[in-house]
Amino acid sequence: MTLKLSPSILTADFSALATELRSVSEWVDWFHLDVMDGHYVENITFGPTVVEAIRRVVDRPLHVHLMISEPARYVDWFARVGADRISFHPEVVPDPRTVVDQIRGAGAQAGLAVHPDVPVETIAPFVGDIAVVLMMTVRPGFGGQAYLDEVTPKIAHARRLVEKTGSDAEIEVDGGVNLTTVDRAVDAGADILVAGSAIFDGKNPPAAARRMRERLDVLGSRT
Ligand code: DX5
Ligand code: ZN
Repeated sequence: MTLKLSPSILTADFSALATELRSVSEWVDWFHLDVMDGHYVENITFGPTVVEAIRRVVDRPLHVHLMISEPARYVDWFARVGADRISFHPEVVPDPRTVVDQIRGAGAQAGLAVHPDVPVETIAPFVGDIAVVLMMTVRPGFGGQAYLDEVTPKIAHARRLVEKTGSDAEIEVDGGVNLTTVDRAVDAGADILVAGSAIFDGKNPPAAARRMRERLDVLGSRT
């Protein structure tokens, strides 16, 4: 199987974003854009204007990960500026299905993000309608945190759920993924690996992206 790599830009050099993203582009399948509002999480990152700018400078699809308390207010806007996938945290809305439908209606693929403290069952009613289950292996808010090992069994649980329901949703693992932790996430059933600080490390992002790409190719060729 082909494992996909999706760098999170959270720890990239924002003063040179186009250069940073283009420097890793050839080794990656997606870019993972973490949107934070200071409410759902403490941190504030960026909004549709920056997504639109990124859309102009890279040719890979964009997955917008909304860590915001009012996703319905912004979904159409993010879709309009070029988000190919939009994921949100279902516990913040009264009816996740409405927001899933809104994302799809806006022409993007929908995803549901699973916070480490939220049970996988929360997303069970929706797996047939989404393109990605985003399993968080850190507490949302900041890049550069350590992979939470206790989430690994939940990744396997999400994988079983997707298979049992015949959904073609991909499993994306987000948080603390690096050359040491990636094997655990893949063994548990990840299809897409987000890597932020492991790639945008302030040293050599293209070399780090290539190393991660090579590791994923090795892990993917085992199955
Ligand atoms: C966390 C974000 C991330 C992320 C990835 O709130 O959702 O996508 O931190 O960065 P690393 O790989 O540094 O954990
Ligand atoms: Zn994320």
